[in-house]
Amino acid sequence: MKVVVIFGSPRKKNSYLVTRAFEEELLKLGPVEFEYIFLNKLSLQPCIGCHNCLFYGKEKCPLPDSIQETLQSMLQADGLVFVSPVYVSQVTSLLKNFIDRFSFLSHRPRLYGQHAMAISTTGAIGLKNVLGYIEKVVSEWGIRSFTKLGLVTPPDRSRDDIVGDKRIRQAAGRFYKRLNGGWSPSLKQVIQFNAQKTFFSTLQAKKISPRDHEYYSALESRDYHVDVKISPFNKFIGRLISHAVRMKSG
Ligand SMILES: Cc1cc2nc3c(=O)[nH]c(=O)nc-3n(C[C@H](O)[C@H](O)[C@H](O)COP(=O)(O)O)c2cc1C
Repeated sequence: MKVVVIFGSPRKKNSYLVTRAFEEELLKLGPVEFEYIFLNKLSLQPCIGCHNCLFYGKEKCPLPDSIQETLQSMLQADGLVFVSPVYVSQVTSLLKNFIDRFSFLSHRPRLYGQHAMAISTTGAIGLKNVLGYIEKVVSEWGIRSFTKLGLVTPPDRSRDDIVGDKRIRQAAGRFYKRLNGGWSPSLKQVIQFNAQKTFFSTLQAKKISPRDHEYYSALESRDYHVDVKISPFNKFIGRLISHAVRMKSG
């Protein structure tokens, strides 16, 4: 098993302590290899809003940095851990820019092989926002499951108390179980697939986003991006959504 950590804090303090303690707990459960990607070291340039990755493909991004290699690292992992402290009720700008730079994954998801986890720490409030936002984004990117861990770490909380928090062990247990478990896309993911497939297959969408049109036209008869068992209920709702989007697009 390989786990890649996308580390979104600019410093190695509370969120790092929690992530390392989480790693230790996971290692107690089985052999797992960890790789850390520190976003402050990666120096991804800010998204310039050209839309090239969305409409024409990720290779058309004009920014010369290591985003493609980072995608390969994520695709080779079994688990992805996204880490961000709460900064003014949201993820850090480091993680937000990372998410923006990978926005093409919300159009054409790729992370079907990966289980995701989000870790956040805060001085007092905002965990729900941060963990909920990461969950929404990575679910759009296709991940198999989502596990979350949020801890309140005010300045007067000791290091030992933080790393000894039992919620870290519990989250490691949940994540490990999911890493080793089965998978079926969630209803939200099936709905997203059918809505995008039907919309991007239209001629009107072809003019705006040729890459999406090409991708989804090839999946015309499919119920999901990849061959995977989908519950009859999710399949039914997905087809209903497809029908509704077709009616709306004329
Ligand atoms: C720029 C900035 C913004 C912050 N915003 C919030 C906030 O909105 N709510 C809160 O409770 N704590 C806030 N904090 C506190 C951090 O979330 C908290 O100290 C966190 O554990 C820091 O994680 P780190 O040690 O991994 O950097 C903020 C800290 C910084 C530096």
